[in-house]
Amino acid sequence: MTAATGPRTALVLGGNSDIALTTLQQIPLDRVVLAARDATALRTRLAAEPLPIGQVSIESWDALDPSAHEPLIERAHDVLGGIDLVLCAVGSLGHGAGITASPSDAAALFESNFTGPATALTAVAQHLVARGYGTIVVLSSVAGLRARRSNYLYGSAKAGLDAFAQGLADSVAESGVRVHLIRPGFVTSKMTTGLKPAPFATSTQAVATAIADAVLSPRSRIVHVPRVLGPMFAVMRALPRPVWRRVAGTR
Ligand SMILES: NC(=O)c1ccc[n+]([C@@H]2O[C@H](COP(=O)([O-])OP(=O)(O)OC[C@H]3O[C@@H](n4cnc5c(N)ncnc54)[C@H](OP(=O)(O)O)[C@@H]3O)[C@@H](O)[C@H]2O)c1
Repeated sequence: MTAATGPRTALVLGGNSDIALTTLQQIPLDRVVLAARDATALRTRLAAEPLPIGQVSIESWDALDPSAHEPLIERAHDVLGGIDLVLCAVGSLGHGAGITASPSDAAALFESNFTGPATALTAVAQHLVARGYGTIVVLSSVAGLRARRSNYLYGSAKAGLDAFAQGLADSVAESGVRVHLIRPGFVTSKMTTGLKPAPFATSTQAVATAIADAVLSPRSRIVHVPRVLGPMFAVMRALPRPVWRRVAGTR
């Protein structure tokens, strides 16, 4: 793999993600391993919506089990003959979970949005650094840039993952490994089914295009989708809290 040719193989963490599967329609790959918590559901989905990739392997994997990460990476390495790209698309929104969430609901959101992905990416980064090359794409969210009262559990977990990915990108900067941090706004996908789209709502295709562009970059990048959310959230983060409460409203 070079920046010019792009990756030929990929491991997807959260392989049944709408954004991830759309991305795989846009990046020309030879082989992919999809790691999903419900392999049967993913097999059924791919039978109806096949990927344009020669070799697709599905692995059962739960992001919440830290002992599963290294065996998954070893299997993916063997199946793929080397991992060029890792796309981390694990997450769950909790549909407005905030003050009414129980401690166990809160723990589940923290684990699926922060602890699970961050522990998996820890193992991924060690593997890629040892090989001296590879690209990691982390799906963060603008929800992590400033927590909203309606979903601060998801937002705070994404803030943790975002900070983790930034530190990881810096720590591997000299190693040949790149870490691209993708911060979409509201994306129409199964995660947001039934929710009213937020301003600047975007599509899985737009996020996929941003990821496909980023993986060709020779440097680690932070990408907002749509792009306007970057400058907009620079302003949002500086708003006094009472103003932010009104801007965020109850959404
Ligand atoms: N949609 C949005 O508005 C939006 C905006 C910003 C960022 N993002 C982020 O983008 C990523 C992809 O989201 P999406 O829109 O494609 O939604 P999605 O289709 O629901 O994808 C999320 C994936 O995470 C998987 N997952 C959750 N917990 C897991 C676990 N413990 N182990 C393994 N896999 C697990 C889900 O598995 P199942 O398929 O089995 O449920 C699902 O495939 C997420 O990180 C999300 O937070 C989404």
